Amino acid sequence: MPEPRRQPLTALAHQRLATVLAPGDIAIDATAGNGHDTLFLARQIAPGGRVHAFDIQPQALEATHERLAQAGLAERVTLHLAGHEKMREHLPADLAGRVAAVTFNLGYLPGGDHGLVTRPDTTLAALVQASALLRPGGLLSVLVYRGHAGGREEAEAVANWFAGQTGLDTEVHDSPGPIAYLARIFHRPHNA
Ligand SMILES: C[S@@+](CC[C@H](N)C(=O)[O-])C[C@H]1O[C@@H](n2cnc3c(N)ncnc32)[C@H](O)[C@@H]1O
Repeated sequence: MPEPRRQPLTALAHQRLATVLAPGDIAIDATAGNGHDTLFLARQIAPGGRVHAFDIQPQALEATHERLAQAGLAERVTLHLAGHEKMREHLPADLAGRVAAVTFNLGYLPGGDHGLVTRPDTTLAALVQASALLRPGGLLSVLVYRGHAGGREEAEAVANWFAGQTGLDTEVHDSPGPIAYLARIFHRPHNA
């Protein structure tokens, strides 16, 4: 089955990410899925940088690995078969405050099981950890969807989380598909 057309807000997120990422940087893809965002991040940080990509589905990491291998960038990326809510325990401790960008493209795996979706509690736990990993000036990119079961609740939880953050400078873009939050970190929370 062909994948749905990529949303324009995905392109906007990539534009913003390109302004903060440079060769040698460290980036995190919190939802690897079919690997489009992981590949984009790998292209920005190569040569010399590293992308850490998380997903709970082996088939997502296999698709991501295949995409990276075809582009000759597999060695730039560490794939983690784990929920993003556990990212802190899977990453080297010295990454705190050093990561240039973290991306979340929430929801389900296109072409996969639509019941295996991101969920508000684990998404919020991961957002807290992501903001502690980012360096000042780093970018947190979150695309959240409302069309699937549980999507509205997750979108509301994400909106409330961003509304409560004081250390972020956040652009919000709505669309008939996703809502995009593109947030620059200007003050890292001490207790995150
Ligand atoms: C919309 S897809 C991601 C699309 C991907 N960024 C791309 O470029 O193809 C969402 C992904 O989140 C994954 N996911 C669901 N819960 C997760 C969790 N707790 N931690 C990490 N990934 C999760 C799903 O398995 C799915 O592959």
